[in-house]
Amino acid sequence: MFKINYKKLLLKKNIEPITCLTAYSKPLAILIDGKVDLILIGDSLGTTLYGMKNTRTVTLEMMKNHGKAVVKNTSISMTIIDMPYNTYRNKKEALNNARNILNFTKADYIKIETDKKNIGIVKHLSKNKIKVVSHIGITPQKFSDFNKIKSVGKNSKDINELMLLARQLEDAGSKFIVLECVSLTAAKKITKSISIPTIGIGASKYCDGQVLVIDDVLNFNSKSKKPKFVKNFTNIENNIVSAVKMFVKEVKSKKFPSRNKSYK
Ligand code: KIV
Repeated sequence: MFKINYKKLLLKKNIEPITCLTAYSKPLAILIDGKVDLILIGDSLGTTLYGMKNTRTVTLEMMKNHGKAVVKNTSISMTIIDMPYNTYRNKKEALNNARNILNFTKADYIKIETDKKNIGIVKHLSKNKIKVVSHIGITPQKFSDFNKIKSVGKNSKDINELMLLARQLEDAGSKFIVLECVSLTAAKKITKSISIPTIGIGASKYCDGQVLVIDDVLNFNSKSKKPKFVKNFTNIENNIVSAVKMFVKEVKSKKFPSRNKSYK
């Protein structure tokens, strides 16, 4: 199988949904490579992997290290890496950090959380040949408490503002737009009004593609509160717990390690 390219994904708009999942490590990258179109090394790793309260304490170094592990083990899917909080506050800072993260990880795209104040940064990065994915709607880096997150785009004023922002981000050179926690009416209108693909998370089936955090798909961290849009497609914790119980049982009964697992 050949590496997926942007042209191929653009052709999917209005035809076939684009698929995207997060991965933060080599084993998961290997498992999902080629099964989804896009792999996102999201700064959600701060909360899902490191147990942080929000994504604001994720550092550039953390993103670079996880990004490198994922990209090195991905050969078919395209890869997107998040720029963490406070690493793109102005054009110069954004360009330096984007180049740093892309040179180190070799990811295909960087993703930044965008609003009308940083459209100029998207334009500056794009002009400098950085491929940008914009993220609008609910942008988690703005929240210190995830429980306060609600959906947006509920009335015509908000929908028009989101549509305008999406069009401006397309004009600024964005390659995709992630829509997070956006009403289905807003998602439908935004998706129809731009020619680049929208990728939704909690933004209905009316987007050109869907993204979820892999830990939610697998039902890791099952005890923590999850947003309404999350769907668990399996329960990996059951498998892990039963494997651990079996290990403990076999060690205690001296069934493991058996002779053929020992050196002579
Ligand atoms: O960090 C992340 O995983 C994300 C997705 C929620 C879109 O940005």
